[in-house]
Amino acid sequence: MNAFLIAGNWKMNGSGVSSHSLASQIISDIEKTPSLTDTCDFLCCPPHIYLLNIVGLADNSPLLVGGQDCSTETEGAFTGDISAPMLADCGAQYCIVGHSERRTIHGETSQQIAKKGECLKESGIKAIICVGETITERKAGKALDVIKEQLKTSIPSGFNAQDFIVAYEPVWAIGSGEAASPEDVAEMHRDIRNILKEMVDKGDTIRILYGGSVKPDNAGELAGIENVGGFLIGGASLKADSFLGIAKAAHDVLS
Ligand code: PGA
Repeated sequence: MNAFLIAGNWKMNGSGVSSHSLASQIISDIEKTPSLTDTCDFLCCPPHIYLLNIVGLADNSPLLVGGQDCSTETEGAFTGDISAPMLADCGAQYCIVGHSERRTIHGETSQQIAKKGECLKESGIKAIICVGETITERKAGKALDVIKEQLKTSIPSGFNAQDFIVAYEPVWAIGSGEAASPEDVAEMHRDIRNILKEMVDKGDTIRILYGGSVKPDNAGELAGIENVGGFLIGGASLKADSFLGIAKAAHDVLS
């Protein structure tokens, strides 16, 4: 495992054909610049319907594949849901949970997110637990309180350091084109690190990703910040050029 994770969250975008070609392009670009894998690990999280296809494509390549969400249950009468064992069966190694779009659009609670985390652990999948404050919470000076509460309630009590990573994604920076300032990222990542150290044995080893309008032109500066262990990338992960551009900018700073 390298220090830095470059993770793409494809959200509900693309088709079978376009996701296949995006993954192929990413794999071939990484293979053209193999030194990138000295500093970076690569992950993509396609829509679940394309997961199996992308896992097949990424077999024996540096690209890891993950899910975007999972059910709080492992099987049964839950129409439309996808369980953690199903994701594991398809070859997912990571799974995002608690993304702000799930928390807001689907009204998911931190307790449900913790339950999903437990299912993922049981299936041998590493959870990417997302936390983030809204602009109103930040302006009211409550950002840290919100993040602390989300971490305390979304991380299952039985979790060890190797079971999960955290993604700090300020809601106002997601898809807005405006990433959080390096100062805000540095401060929040330091605070998250301290909370993780209090919560979990070896909390200093847990990767903390930053997410929210990461692009090739801000990736270098963000990658150099202490306690930033990778990026969770939405929009810029949908083109191989920008996804790899982010990795190259991070690599230059980290190598
Ligand atoms: P963005 O999304 O990079 O498009 O801001 C990040 C995310 O939602 O994970």
